[in-house]
Amino acid sequence: MTDKINWVDHPLIQHKLSLMRRKDQSTAGFRQLLREISTLLAYEVTRDLPLTTVQIETPLQKMDAPVLTGKKLCFVSILRAGNGLLDGMLDLLPSARVGHIGLYRDPETLEAVEYYFKVPQDIGERLAIVVDPMLATANSVIMAIDQLKQAGANRLKFVCLLASPEGIHALNEAHPDVEAYTAAIDDRLDENGYILPGLGDAGDRIYGTR
Ligand code: PRP
Ligand code: URA
Repeated sequence: MTDKINWVDHPLIQHKLSLMRRKDQSTAGFRQLLREISTLLAYEVTRDLPLTTVQIETPLQKMDAPVLTGKKLCFVSILRAGNGLLDGMLDLLPSARVGHIGLYRDPETLEAVEYYFKVPQDIGERLAIVVDPMLATANSVIMAIDQLKQAGANRLKFVCLLASPEGIHALNEAHPDVEAYTAAIDDRLDENGYILPGLGDAGDRIYGTR
């Protein structure tokens, strides 16, 4: 089966992503560009949210106007780099609920290690949109989705900025029900599990920790 992911190829996203990748991009610039791109990605991932109509009055007449229906969706940020995607998404959906899953990659084994988990109790009644800029081996997002499903989540999407072909394949294998979105599909992983050409360590670039 061919691997499945939604590539969001909007020119504004592609241009801003190229600016982010540059090694001489400042921390402030990197963060701002990520915020701008995440708003555009949020627009795409919410394209099929359900609508109903309510009657309103314009200054001229009554009309049945479309409004969102159902429980508010929940963004789930994989800490810490996920928070860089979260802010721009919340600009667009300020009432969304937010869950956090703390994970880091063991640099030797590349396995994900969990250190925090907090999501709304009624996560099973909401669309959960997991956010993390980087899909490399996919170990982190697979573990995050495993934990979310254990907590009752049953409608899930995943949004990242960069994806490796290896990561897309692994995510599809582990969670074929989860629709994934990315701004770019890069070439491959290096021997340390970094995406090539990539943008380096997303968390370090967002927070200026290296
Ligand atoms: C990065 C990134 C993902 C993970 C992707 O996080 O934000 O969570 O690596 O790699 P994977 O697909 O191979 O699991 P990192 O572990 O560096 O933690 P950080 O966000 O705290 O910097
Ligand atoms: N995590 C990152 O931050 N960057 C990569 O290239 C791979 C994993």
